[in-house]
Amino acid sequence: MGENTTIRWILFFFFPALFVYGLLHVYSSKPAQAKKTAELTEMEEGGRKVYNKFCVGCHGENGDGNSMAAPFFKDKPPNFHTGVFRWKSTPEGTLPTDEDLLHVLNWGIPQTPMPSFHLVPEVQKRAVIAYIKTFSDRWKKEQPGESVYTKIKEIPPYFGTKESIEKGKELYAANCTACHGENGKGDGPIAATLPVPPTNLTYPVRAAGPSPKDTFRVLTVGLEGSPMPKFDHLSEEDRWHLVSYIAYLMNQGK
Ligand code: HEC
Ligand code: HEC
Repeated sequence: MGENTTIRWILFFFFPALFVYGLLHVYSSKPAQAKKTAELTEMEEGGRKVYNKFCVGCHGENGDGNSMAAPFFKDKPPNFHTGVFRWKSTPEGTLPTDEDLLHVLNWGIPQTPMPSFHLVPEVQKRAVIAYIKTFSDRWKKEQPGESVYTKIKEIPPYFGTKESIEKGKELYAANCTACHGENGKGDGPIAATLPVPPTNLTYPVRAAGPSPKDTFRVLTVGLEGSPMPKFDHLSEEDRWHLVSYIAYLMNQGK
């Protein structure tokens, strides 16, 4: 009789209870799952995986730059929620192009902790770009600005000539030494007062990219959100002379 009661108890109470518990579990977890996949497209979801593998340690779980590593960096990771990007070819106040973001992932930002991901397949980089754009609503409301690269035709023939370097040197003395220092080492008189250290321009690798066009781009649009101003009030020719001088400086560091 004791055995019978136990069997009955299992059949009429325990199993139904387990079933109800199971149902509750399924229904309580389902909405959360559905929400996640409904919010992210397939590409963004793929990008989230790439992000959690390669980026999260420095950029933080929710993309605001608050990560375990950030306190140890002089150059802080950006807050992707602001939608403001520094390393881009579009005018101040506008969003970067996907190509700008891809450029940063391929080249990295030398002299800062941001590494190059040139060995990661491009599909994964495009996916992670789609994912970091989900952190700011700006991407839903605005279009990227017009890239300077579409306007730069060719590197002019006088680039890198002795005369161009000389002209660039004069322009540099008049416009750049306060921050970057007389010799370009980033040690100008006001350097220590700036929230971001001026780049050491004698370092043999350019942060903005390997081409003289990348330096020309920095001089034309500046680095938004950093003290580096744009110099579009100088003529195009003068900006190219400056690029000649900056390229020359790259071989002057010790
Ligand atoms: C070792 C740390 C580190 C890792 C790993 C890292 N980043 Fe960065 N990243 C940084 C820092 C620091 C900066 C800011 C550099 C600066 O502007 O001085 C930065 C800058 C950037 C920028 C430029 C932001 C701007 O203002 O233009 C983008 C885009 C970016 N990271 C995306 C990524 C993505 C995507 C990944 C993963 C695939 C990644 N980063 C991995 C540290 C890191
Ligand atoms: C008010 C200070 C200030 C002035 C003036 C200034 N810079 Fe900068 N510059 C900076 C800072 C700060 C950075 C680094 C920004 C960062 O890492 O986010 C920078 C970055 C750069 C970079 C990008 C570094 C790279 O390797 O690609 C270049 C190029 C550059 N400056 C050239 C110049 C030139 C040329 C002038 C003069 C025409 C100039 N700067 C004037 C503060 C200044």
